[in-house]
Amino acid sequence: MRLVFLGAPGVGKGTQADLIASRFHHPKISTGDILREAVRNKTPLGLEAKACMDRGTLVSDDIVVGIVREKLAEPGCTNGFLLDGFPRTVAQAEALAEMLKTRGQPLDRVINISVSREEVVRRLTGRRSCPKCQAVFHVELAPPQRGGICDRCGGELIQRSDDHKDTAESRLSVYEEQTAPLIAYYREAHVLSELNGLDPVEAVHHRLVSLLAASGLT
Ligand code: AP5
Repeated sequence: MRLVFLGAPGVGKGTQADLIASRFHHPKISTGDILREAVRNKTPLGLEAKACMDRGTLVSDDIVVGIVREKLAEPGCTNGFLLDGFPRTVAQAEALAEMLKTRGQPLDRVINISVSREEVVRRLTGRRSCPKCQAVFHVELAPPQRGGICDRCGGELIQRSDDHKDTAESRLSVYEEQTAPLIAYYREAHVLSELNGLDPVEAVHHRLVSLLAASGLT
């Protein structure tokens, strides 16, 4: 199973990719998680990426393509992988196609998740994340059992700096300009599947599993 999760910030790509990863035992590669870890560890990559992430703009194609190239070369990715948040530009999509061509392993499906803009802003501004294990919660929609504490690892939950309203709005504009064109790109390549992300997490997950089954992937 070689999948890409596409969609605006906050539509639920990470949430759905996590569920598919644990159900079908494929590694999830989230460029956002990798970049945030580099920022926390103050690595050269993190220092370079931080300013873009704080502004809600995209990190350079060269950097993220390099990250994904390294990850895909790991043995765990030989039998499949889920890409969450990559590609985000046509140049990244072309670089990915080239990498996969070399491996003789084309993408199986690109899942485009969509919800309304109002719902996306609600999801982003209410999200709380665990910096230790990357688990994601929402103050209203998916609250942790103990306020502010991660159910999975006991870590202290934080609000991502780019989830404040102004930066969230900038990220949505960047998405419209630079990432939304990938919907047409992958539709033309006949690998796009549309998934309405508005229902509760479990309902969206069930529809996604049915969609993958209908595509012969489960
Ligand atoms: P990244 O971390 O990838 O952020 P994003 O795409 O903006 O996606 P999000 O993580 O915000 O949202 P999501 O769709 O995964 O939603 P989630 O499942 O968490 O990127 C961050 C930054 O890194 C970028 O701005 C950029 O600077 C840089 N970057 C990363 N990749 C890059 C690339 N390829 N190129 C260049 N730069 C890159 O859900 C959101 C909330 O909603 C949660 O609280 C969740 O609990 C809740 N929720 C989810 N599903 C549902 C549901 N069905 N019902 C109710 N609530 C739900």
